[in-house]
Amino acid sequence: MKIIETAGRNPEPFMPMLKAAGIKVIHKCTSVRHALKAEAIGCDIVSVDGFECAGHPGEDDVTNLVLLPAAAARLSIPILASGGIVNGYQMAAAFALGAEGINMGSRFVATREAPVHEHVKQAMVDADERETVLIFRSLNNTARVFKNKVSLQVLAIEARAGETDFAEIQPLVAGSRGRKAVLEEGDIDAGIWTVGMAVGLIHDIPTCADLLQRIIAEAREAVEMRMKPLLT
Ligand SMILES: Cc1cc2nc3c(=O)[nH]c(=O)nc-3n(C[C@H](O)[C@H](O)[C@H](O)COP(=O)(O)O)c2cc1C
Repeated sequence: MKIIETAGRNPEPFMPMLKAAGIKVIHKCTSVRHALKAEAIGCDIVSVDGFECAGHPGEDDVTNLVLLPAAAARLSIPILASGGIVNGYQMAAAFALGAEGINMGSRFVATREAPVHEHVKQAMVDADERETVLIFRSLNNTARVFKNKVSLQVLAIEARAGETDFAEIQPLVAGSRGRKAVLEEGDIDAGIWTVGMAVGLIHDIPTCADLLQRIIAEAREAVEMRMKPLLT
């Protein structure tokens, strides 16, 4: 089966082409209204991305504990829970809230296979859940990134009165700079890099296979040990 994930803006112009090619479309949304729109234009699945997520959480700031059930109550198409998830306990919780699958971004960055510098992976293991910041808020294009020298510098510029001049922050946030920091040199302070609040729940650097097996085992344990007793 061929699947494409769209995100960031309305995929409607591409839908006829994708449908004609028999491709299933997952649209990632950060709000119920956008998820409903995705359903209305024919998306097959929505990935509901809570405020915890890495990257662009939107401007509504609704976390998954509320966003997932709010979306599940209104949608007919399947929901993937996205944002903040790294383990099977959270997967079981997401299922309880109405999701039928999960999506993980940050967790996969701290795996053996990820083509990311070891210093970055180690910084993720060392970080707690407070070590992300929201940049670009003043530009109405919020992004959650790792708290480091560069992202704090961006925030200081944004905190100044008046409108943010993107030209002033552009050299700091340039993709080439982040890429160099994260992929090539391993200098975690050299550029901005995307990570979610889930960084505080990441404590090791497993292979993807080990990670997935562990998640399934944890989800089973969550249901057996933590939820099933509710039925007795
Ligand atoms: C390193 C990294 C790069 C990402 N790049 C993009 C991107 O280019 N476009 C996008 O829509 N989301 C991007 N995301 C966000 C993920 O697709 C996903 O929504 C998010 O990671 C889910 O939250 P989590 O990190 O807490 O699992 C990125 C996430 C990470 C960690």
